[in-house]
Amino acid sequence: MSVVIVEKRERHAVLTISREKALNALNGEVLAALIAAMADLEADGAMRGVVITGAGEKAFVAGADIAAMRDLKPAEASAFAAEGHRAMNAVAESRLISIAAVNGFALGGGLELALACDLRIVAENAKLGLPEVTLGLIPGFGGTQRLPRVVGRGIALEMILSGDMIDATRAAQIGLANRVVASGSALAEAEGMMKTLSTHRSAVAQRAARQAVYEGADTSLAKGLEREIDQFANLFKSDDPRLGMGAFLEKRKPEF
Ligand code: CAA
Repeated sequence: MSVVIVEKRERHAVLTISREKALNALNGEVLAALIAAMADLEADGAMRGVVITGAGEKAFVAGADIAAMRDLKPAEASAFAAEGHRAMNAVAESRLISIAAVNGFALGGGLELALACDLRIVAENAKLGLPEVTLGLIPGFGGTQRLPRVVGRGIALEMILSGDMIDATRAAQIGLANRVVASGSALAEAEGMMKTLSTHRSAVAQRAARQAVYEGADTSLAKGLEREIDQFANLFKSDDPRLGMGAFLEKRKPEF
């Protein structure tokens, strides 16, 4: 059975990391399968979003595979981290909106995968953290860069330097979780949210807005505002503004 299972619905897919015995830890096989699955979804014009979750009741993803990393030489460690980055970027740079349904432990590379997603729905029983320093490591799949961009540098440093896990309530307080839901219902909630995002909303506009937000985080306010004007103007090369505003003026819901 594949270590990454993809189930396509009408406009989105559910991608399940499936190595339940190792709490869905990310080894080379999982990373390669994740990259391939994202490429397939990317190429499928019917798809607008992806919900990522972990198999079983216990874990989203408990991290990069510790057994696979223990004896790495520096060059091999570099290649492993680079492959991890390719996998995280396949999600973060995808045209698809991504939601992590965090159904349990999201640690190390698991939290980094959730951070590569646009949004995070977190179950009450979940525990999140970057425990790498307790293993003599640092976060190697993007955590040092993406966590501060989501929660701010101070809180990110506290999590990274301590390696401590936080619970779902704390994750919501610091803006890491978009929503906290009952244990066992993260996937359903994430799929519900994805359906809402895929209905009566322009995918072209969503992509432009998302790009403006992400680009803005990495540049000055002035440059970010300029990019917003560019993205706003670019949209008018597509039919969507006319469709959306036409529907409003005719007092009906737009179908994009
Ligand atoms: N890598 C490999 N195997 C893992 C794993 C991981 N990250 N996390 C859990 N497993 C395996 C365990 O070794 C165990 O296997 P066996 O049954 O063969 O012994 C199985 O999954 C179940 O785990 P536990 O028995 O430990 O379950 P538990 O309920 O006692 O504890 C846990 C759960 C707190 C999540 C614990 O498993 C744990 O601490 N896991 C490691 C978490 C971690 O440190 N993650 C960061 C990894 S480093 C990283 O991700 C680097 C990076 O950024 C690239």
